[in-house]
Amino acid sequence: MRIISGIQPTGNLHLGNYLGAIRRWVKLQDEVEGADNFLIFLADLHAITVYNDPAELRRNIHGMAAALVACGIDPARTVLFNHARVPAHAEMAWLLGCTARIGWLNRMTQFKEKSGKNREGVSIGLYAYPVLQAADVLLYQATHVPVGEDQKQHIELTRDIAMKFNTDYGVDLFTVPEPLIGDTAARIMSLRDGRSKMSKSDPSDMSRINLSDDDDSIAQKIRKAKTDPEPLPDSFEALSGRPEAENLVSIYAALTDRTPQSVVEEYAGKGFGAFKPALADLLVESLGPIRGRLDDFAADPAALDRILADGSARAAELAKPTLEGAYRALGLPR
Ligand code: TYM
Repeated sequence: MRIISGIQPTGNLHLGNYLGAIRRWVKLQDEVEGADNFLIFLADLHAITVYNDPAELRRNIHGMAAALVACGIDPARTVLFNHARVPAHAEMAWLLGCTARIGWLNRMTQFKEKSGKNREGVSIGLYAYPVLQAADVLLYQATHVPVGEDQKQHIELTRDIAMKFNTDYGVDLFTVPEPLIGDTAARIMSLRDGRSKMSKSDPSDMSRINLSDDDDSIAQKIRKAKTDPEPLPDSFEALSGRPEAENLVSIYAALTDRTPQSVVEEYAGKGFGAFKPALADLLVESLGPIRGRLDDFAADPAALDRILADGSARAAELAKPTLEGAYRALGLPR
């Protein structure tokens, strides 16, 4: 088993990233056997597909590295690195871009959402980005990719690219990876609208819990979270059609490692006046220690740079044989 996943180093790490991805990575880090079989990276070449202020991007790279370590990613057990320090990603993205089909990319829902009505005006990088994501995974012969639900389509594209390349060039070069999607927290929704996902690009800060939020903001955001006047039923299925309630119960379940069903059973017949304070306490208790560590690590950017430089050197070594294999398969002498 070799596992890889990535995250964009954008400003706000929120509860969706934490429950949908990072918390699961920390658990998997302990389960994967053998050195160099667990890799996590900052997708900084993805972050530049839209304009970023360079000084802010630099700060965000440090901020995200600090957040991952604060959440429990251990650089001694995980190869922790960033795209920009491992040129093999950009090289492999070009090679795979010649295998990926325009029709495949045209189906990517995330591109449609992000480009909106301005399709002609967005960068080529934003459009081609899923090919870079395929390179990220295929370079390392990863078998599994733990992601939230929103990334599933990109992993399916990665599989298609791997299979087409292997077939077209008559090689068995790329491992075809499987997505690993959790069941309870695969899609954490906005606190203001249970039908759209919690996201760093939502203009309303009340829609998400950031890992940097203090206790009072967390409590206030949960108090003001949109809900309905009905009490909680005694089965999770009975919450269908009540997306906001379903979301809060899922958050509670993910934080306590319980099933959503056991959470509704505990609160059956009670309203949100009882449920919300319990959820707010739980969040404060879970996120407080992370925030404390985050502040400590963020104060030492040089140490974070060392971690990323070391991880990147290891990643570059691991990526080399597959990159060389791809050049060879294509008939490109080096
Ligand atoms: P990104 O940075 O948008 O998100 C990082 C991870 O967090 C998950 N996630 C969520 N999960 C549940 N509920 C939510 N509301 C929520 N919001 C985000 C995402 O599914 C993701 O797992 N393209 C990727 C980064 C990437 C990557 C890769 C991932 C680049 N290369 C290779 C895996 C493998 C992205 O933009 O994630």
